[in-house]
Amino acid sequence: MSAQESALTKSLDAIMTRRKQSGLPLLAIDGPFLSSAPDFFSNDYLSLSTSPLLRELFLSKALSASRLFGATGCRLATGSGEGYRALEERLVHFFQSLDALLRTSGCVANEAFWSMVPQPGNVLIFDQLVHSSIREAVLGGCFEEAPCTHAQIMQGSGTVFVAIESVYSMDGDFSPLEDIVRTVDELVPKGHAHICVDEAHTSGIFGPDGRGYVALLGLKGRIHTMMHTLGKAWRHRGGQFYLVDYAKAFGYTTTMAHMDVYILNSCLDIISGPKGQELRNKLSHIVQYAYALPRNAFRPFPAQIVALTLPSTRASDIDLDRAAAKRSAELKLYSPAIPLLTPHAVELAEYLIDCGYNAGAVTYPAVKVSRVRVIMHAGNTQAEVDRFVEKVVEWATEKDQTSSQEGNRGGEVLLRRGTGSNEEQGTNTCLYIRTIVAFKVETSEERI
Ligand SMILES: Cc1ncc(COP(=O)(O)O)c(C=O)c1O
Repeated sequence: MSAQESALTKSLDAIMTRRKQSGLPLLAIDGPFLSSAPDFFSNDYLSLSTSPLLRELFLSKALSASRLFGATGCRLATGSGEGYRALEERLVHFFQSLDALLRTSGCVANEAFWSMVPQPGNVLIFDQLVHSSIREAVLGGCFEEAPCTHAQIMQGSGTVFVAIESVYSMDGDFSPLEDIVRTVDELVPKGHAHICVDEAHTSGIFGPDGRGYVALLGLKGRIHTMMHTLGKAWRHRGGQFYLVDYAKAFGYTTTMAHMDVYILNSCLDIISGPKGQELRNKLSHIVQYAYALPRNAFRPFPAQIVALTLPSTRASDIDLDRAAAKRSAELKLYSPAIPLLTPHAVELAEYLIDCGYNAGAVTYPAVKVSRVRVIMHAGNTQAEVDRFVEKVVEWATEKDQTSSQEGNRGGEVLLRRGTGSNEEQGTNTCLYIRTIVAFKVETSEERI
């Protein structure tokens, strides 16, 4: 090993040691694997990954395909073909958008869009809890924090980009998109706003024919860019679409394999047809069941053991939470992601893994309040949910008893919203619950 490698190894080891000492879990890629226990943890919302129908549709398309394997190059060189454009056109038709572009994953799409499309002098407004692929790309291109009274916006000469998710899969809450669109209309001169909605966790499962949250709210035409990851409900690795003409990554990476196009077409056959509706109905039914059950079952336990919701820490949050809950109830919106909030997330996940579940803890810095994130699927049954909740209650009872004996039960839990440092200032309450951050794009750098 060279001196340089050994210095590098040492510094990486030191980082891991510090992480261990601070109590953060060490992440491992060698498990847990998919098990025979019911799935309460994957993003396979419609249970398509095990669908015999999807398998059949794909195999019949694959058997007659002239090309099935690697694309052999990037889209601008050898890696193009009719199949890709035909799928994009199908997606344009399905999502009723103006254009579509397939990328290899949601992360790649977000990074490409957010690092390339906003121009010098533009303003980016985003929720601090948006997906890290958006946050990192936004922050990477920004120069300074800008006030909402940015001169170019007031003069109507710049563009205000707004980055928002449809549903936030860590907390399972929906963004108040209607309010955001209304506020943007009120505050930003016409033609100077660009609202982007990441539909990763709503694509395929909400809205008419599974077209998503924007379609459900009837906001088509008011949203400028939608990003649909096809790796969640669509149950396919990566592959999503959004509108953009300039994306460096488009020219520098190999196109997805031809096989992927056949899989995605088969997914779309199901999602847009009667079987898709049947699966969405099943999902909605089981999600509602799953919300009601733990709410009662966990009532005896203090938040130091397990809780389903974050207590609001500010009066304004309580009002906004109530308004959001009322609107969700009106729209019958139930997120399939249900967080089990607990300071002992790693311990709970280990317990569930011992019971055969494919559980994982989500901890700081990914989230501020650690949790085991449970996800419902169309294929889950009520009996499976009953059994799973029973297991969590068993763990919580034991943990509660041990904590009481050790005198730890009454301690205060730090449950705060947002991930940013300025959340306590309460200055940016203009749009919605969480911390809003506005940045100006670096003016000295040409982005395209
Ligand atoms: C909101 C959101 N956007 C984008 C992504 C990235 O999608 P992909 O897994 O296709 O890279 C995720 C994945 O977890 C996500 O939750």
